[in-house]
Amino acid sequence: MKHRSWAEPWRIKMVEPLRMTTRAEREVAIRAAGYNTFLLRSDDVYIDLLTDSGTSAMSDRQWAGMMLGDEAYAGSRNFYRLEAAVQQHYGFPHVIPTHQGRGAEHILSRLLIADGHVVPGNMYFTTTRAHQELAGGAFRDVIIDEAHDPTSEHPFKGDVDLAKLDAIVRDVGAEWIPYVSVAATVNMAGGQPISLANLRALRAYTQSRGIRVILDATRAVENAWFIQQREPGHRSESIAEILFAMCDCADGATMSGKKDSLVNIGGWLGLRDDSLAERARNLVVLFEGLHTYGGLAGRDMEAMAIGIEESVQEDYIRARIGQVHYLGNALIDAGIPIVLPIGGHAVFLDAAAFLPHLDREALPAQALTCELFLESGIRAMERGTVSAGRDPATGKNRTPPLELVRLTIPRRVYTQAHMDVVTESVQAVWEFRDSIRGLRFVSEPEYLRFFQARFEPLPVVSARVAAEEETAGAAV
Ligand code: F0G
Repeated sequence: MKHRSWAEPWRIKMVEPLRMTTRAEREVAIRAAGYNTFLLRSDDVYIDLLTDSGTSAMSDRQWAGMMLGDEAYAGSRNFYRLEAAVQQHYGFPHVIPTHQGRGAEHILSRLLIADGHVVPGNMYFTTTRAHQELAGGAFRDVIIDEAHDPTSEHPFKGDVDLAKLDAIVRDVGAEWIPYVSVAATVNMAGGQPISLANLRALRAYTQSRGIRVILDATRAVENAWFIQQREPGHRSESIAEILFAMCDCADGATMSGKKDSLVNIGGWLGLRDDSLAERARNLVVLFEGLHTYGGLAGRDMEAMAIGIEESVQEDYIRARIGQVHYLGNALIDAGIPIVLPIGGHAVFLDAAAFLPHLDREALPAQALTCELFLESGIRAMERGTVSAGRDPATGKNRTPPLELVRLTIPRRVYTQAHMDVVTESVQAVWEFRDSIRGLRFVSEPEYLRFFQARFEPLPVVSARVAAEEETAGAAV
């Protein structure tokens, strides 16, 4: 059959004008922002690929749902709609709403983690690990080695290495492991999926040792799509069936509805255990709000319930990930080093390969986000040395193998033409990559430093280049 293109399964009913700026205006803006794209004003951004979190366009049905908000303090009708949608699609009998994902992570970490606990997981996520550490735990990475190699084309780079997990269990003892933290997809690895076979093997291993599994379900729908497309035996299963089967491998889940569920705010904690859920409902009152609203308005819960239903539709998810892959393939064709295979929510530039003349201390990924913004007004996010932060025990900078810039695609927001502009802009930066200078910290907050740190350009391109220049100068 002749190849047929796919197109978005929606049309545009309302538009939001974008503002274009001059290079001179962007230079002022990035300096004022301390060379941190999180500190830019959105008004100074042309195409905003900072995050896919809370940046989705809601559907007409979701907006209509916003008008059906039952804003009662207790027992809102919309809570029961949300509860039913989560039970149906994720399968957790107990659903505790939270204002967003980290609210659920906070409650869960307080509930299960104590001083000295060890939490193994398939690569860290910033807020997840921060809450594990605040509760007294230490995160240990048990993702397969391929995940740390941006060039490996392993189809399930989110898989847990059960041998690594077993080594930790033997070392510290199962009683010191409150749960295994599994993300689907793995954000920091490049939006890489975990296979259902691996989730099931993990479930069998942990069950035999009495260890819980907690799923970070934030992008589990996107993960389900990769399972359907890539894992043998799942082609004829629906996204909804695969999602349910994935969740079946977990005792609980934390969720940021701001991603898969197509809303601007909201999250939840899902649990199977009755007594644990009772304690979680009690804790949520302290930190988020009553257990039937958890920091959300009734209308927000309604929009999330509808978003969950829309997110598992086959044509939606195909177009969603199709757009990310359209951008990724265009960048590959242009010879730009990106993380392979292309992930679910973003294309990750390999900043270490893009700027090999910069040492890690010169923060190449952070520097690359600034250059891309200066070139075209596109806002991306650093996912490397700055995001990794410091080890709380030693105070030293962590040095993650991956030094990445994330071009994150909001859901249902930008067109293919925007993606073409992004490709051209990255290509333009690629042309002058040798002259890009590194950055250094000017100020560094204690927690999740990437959000609020400030930087300044290094006086020279890099220490190594400076040394080479000096040697060359001496030779002349
Ligand atoms: N888990 C994952 C995998 C995430 O990507 C995020 C948020 C969270 C948990 C926390 O959820 O933001 O609702 O509190 N990720 C955003 C991002 C911030 O840009 O990747 P939240």
